[in-house]
Amino acid sequence: FDSVDSAIADIKLGKAVVVVDNEDRENEADLIFAAEKSTPELLAFTVRHTSGYVCCAVKPSRLDDLQLPLLVPREKSSDPNRTSYTLPVDHIATSTGISAQDRALTLAKLADESEDMTQFRRPGHVIPLLPNDMGVLGRNGHTEAAYDLARLAGLYPAGVLCELVNNYTDGSCMRRPQSYKFAKEHGLKYISINGLIEYIKQNGINS
Ligand code: 5RP
Ligand code: CA
Ligand code: ZN
Ligand code: ZN
Repeated sequence: FDSVDSAIADIKLGKAVVVVDNEDRENEADLIFAAEKSTPELLAFTVRHTSGYVCCAVKPSRLDDLQLPLLVPREKSSDPNRTSYTLPVDHIATSTGISAQDRALTLAKLADESEDMTQFRRPGHVIPLLPNDMGVLGRNGHTEAAYDLARLAGLYPAGVLCELVNNYTDGSCMRRPQSYKFAKEHGLKYISINGLIEYIKQNGINS
């Protein structure tokens, strides 16, 4: 794995990093970057190499302000990992909402508090997720990893995440050897949620 510091530095620069969860959890590798750094190029790259089910972990109070409730309340959720999906949205300045350009705009605006709830159409094509308040210390999911990486980078607390998949072969999820090779081929830092937990236990999180 690369150092968490090096991943935070790349997040700050607006680059994506690859983050794996435990092999006995989802055993998935997500491409993660800061929402405020979203660009059409980054979204085009993301959609090319992932499931395309682009989610964004957003600071809980911001989701409150935007009045984006959980699709299914946690106690009623039958998702095995209780992933906290809220209402998908599009920014009002988008066209159909699905292009790389449109999704980059929606994601950047989620991280811009000058945009209030009137500026987002619902339903849409970007799925905001509600992270645990304590980040990865409270839940060891990619949702919290994306939230914490944005916070650690000193950026707006919202992080984009999407699972890497083998789009040029069988569409299966990339497991560790494949996601590692992908990261290195594309010059991306490769870290684990466990590593992030250790890092935050040692260094804290100033946000
Ligand atoms: C949304 C998902 C992904 O697994 C994503 O990583 C968020 O889930 P979690 O926080 O549970 O890892 O299901 O596409
Ligand atoms: Ca999942
Ligand atoms: Zn459509
Ligand atoms: Zn995940």
